[in-house]
Amino acid sequence: MYYGADYYPEHWPKERWAEDARLMKEANINVVRLAEFAWAKLEPAEGHYDFSWLDEAIDILGKEGIKAVIGTPTATPPKWLVDKYPDIYMKDRYGHVRGFGSRRHYCYNSPVYHEYTKRIVSKIAKRYGVNENVIAWQIDNEFGCQDTGQCYCENCQLAFREWLKERYGSLENLNRAWGTVFWSQTYNDWDEIILPYYTVCEDSDHRFHGHNPGLLLDFYRFSSDSVVSYQKLQVDLIREFASQPITHNLMGHFPEIDYFKLGKDLDFVSWDNYPRNQWRIDGSDFREVAMAHDLMRGVKDKGFWVMEQQSGPCGWSVMGRTPKPGQLRLWTYQAVAHGAEAIVYFRWRTCAFGAEEYWYGILDHDGIPRRRYGEVQKTGKELQAISDIIVGSRVVSETAIIKSYDNLWSHRIQPHSTGFDYNTLLMSYYKGLINNNINTDVISIDHDLDRYKVVFMPAFNLVKEDIIEKIEEYVKNGGNLVLTFRSGSRNWDNSMRTDTLPGGFRKLAGIEVEEFDSLNQDCEGITGIMGDGTAITWCDILKPNGAGVLAVYASGYYRGSAAITVNTFGKGKVYYVGCGLDQKSLDKLIESIAGEAEVGQVLPWKTEGVEAVKKEKDGKPYIMVLNHNPVPVIVDTGGNYTDLLTGGKINNKLELEPYGVSVLV
Ligand code: GLA
Ligand code: ZN
Repeated sequence: MYYGADYYPEHWPKERWAEDARLMKEANINVVRLAEFAWAKLEPAEGHYDFSWLDEAIDILGKEGIKAVIGTPTATPPKWLVDKYPDIYMKDRYGHVRGFGSRRHYCYNSPVYHEYTKRIVSKIAKRYGVNENVIAWQIDNEFGCQDTGQCYCENCQLAFREWLKERYGSLENLNRAWGTVFWSQTYNDWDEIILPYYTVCEDSDHRFHGHNPGLLLDFYRFSSDSVVSYQKLQVDLIREFASQPITHNLMGHFPEIDYFKLGKDLDFVSWDNYPRNQWRIDGSDFREVAMAHDLMRGVKDKGFWVMEQQSGPCGWSVMGRTPKPGQLRLWTYQAVAHGAEAIVYFRWRTCAFGAEEYWYGILDHDGIPRRRYGEVQKTGKELQAISDIIVGSRVVSETAIIKSYDNLWSHRIQPHSTGFDYNTLLMSYYKGLINNNINTDVISIDHDLDRYKVVFMPAFNLVKEDIIEKIEEYVKNGGNLVLTFRSGSRNWDNSMRTDTLPGGFRKLAGIEVEEFDSLNQDCEGITGIMGDGTAITWCDILKPNGAGVLAVYASGYYRGSAAITVNTFGKGKVYYVGCGLDQKSLDKLIESIAGEAEVGQVLPWKTEGVEAVKKEKDGKPYIMVLNHNPVPVIVDTGGNYTDLLTGGKINNKLELEPYGVSVLV
């Protein structure tokens, strides 16, 4: 399996390169990613190329058996280029140019940037497409990062109009879909159509208050599509000249790009995982990281790479806490458990200059191997020993959570309630599953559903006929579907449906929403199969229309009204959860739904802070157990196993050290 580091030879004297390669080899590293920000080194002046340094670095590494992934350097257009063509720069919603000084300072729709992209990418692809030490490509770097998912420049305005023509065919259709009769917004010419610039209505939280929701959602879609086409331009070029597989480094839960669409053009997905950084001082919940891994696996429904895995304390101006002994190894195994087939640590050696002087890598500024190097070395050795059950394995999941970027964007534009966030709601369901030792896939609505016993489809607000038909089919054939509040109330163009809520899902759910209450920060009581609990964020007051009642509200004027229901539909069942729930109640509800559907648990007992993932390679199952606690734990395995890492026998009780890991067969 590939195991490596992100390496920047251009930041260090040549004399050090051979020593780096030697130290890497000793650390069991066999791959590096190179050059993704090196445009100005590769083409210092227009048309003057210098590949000699990169050739030499690849060669030195190659001699130690270390292969390379080459990044196309388009995330950092050089100064000579943007000075010559300033309209390459992005603009913000106030029309200000977002200029030079950091990175990602280009617009995805700039025709001149497309031309220069083609030139540099084809040069590189031709040169390294035939290099046997180059084993893969990374397109650009983290599309959308540093708030670059959306641009408001003139090029984007023109491109948006073209995109809309394609989508709507006629202005009449567009005006109808957006409901432009409201506030006299009717467009009589395509050239009149605006981007959602700053208007008199914008609030201090920079939401797009006052803009038309149809236009806003289409702007989100257009912006995401712009990234997808910009990536495609590069993918097509590389395929012309090179045969190595192509990836891009995604960002887990990042909300502005439809990763299911972005992933279609790639050969494999990779992503960048920093569980503890400047923005997450206390370290993120391991379940959030787990879900990001599962989403990354779901993008192409197959194994992925971690292209940047945190390897030190990190931040830009301030730093998060340093990874404690065992944590680098734990995070690596967590990635592998959820489907990573290659791990690349960011970065090999901490840079002494530039914006990331504080973003520590495997080596410190002084380049001397210490604790973190030792842990990477040890982990690499262990992983190579079991690599045949890692590469090409799959996670065994009987449940899935559907994630929809269209719905995410619609909810971002109008979150309904101050307490509401679509990703957080999905996460609460994900936590409910992990808290019950249940594996899950995170998938798009286009994915095949039949293989799942339970499909969770939280707050699927925008609907269209083919989606309704698809899930009706799934349930009819025996599937179990879980819907929540804010489902089925809008059309795909972001206008409100005028049928009784839950609109498109009314028949399936066997209920009607009589009234609702946007709780914001308040809460109400709820009681039912999960015991007594708390309803948060939102309460749908339900009138069963064939469905049975599983829980009722326990306070407020709607006390006693149905809050959670279940309806039999064909051979399957549809659950409707009319409110947000405190996590404990949600865990219990999920336990009961999964129990009814006979979903298997990875381990029969839950140990706090311990994660268990069931995997399979060539029909042979194994379980990865991860202790995220800073203290040792004893895990009830409910059976006898062998630990593949130590060879030890486990008789019902597995002892794990702080941040310890075990692979059970
Ligand atoms: C991202 C980028 C890297 C680096 C790290 C640390 O993941 O892809 O280039 O900037 O963050 O900030
Ligand atoms: Zn633009």
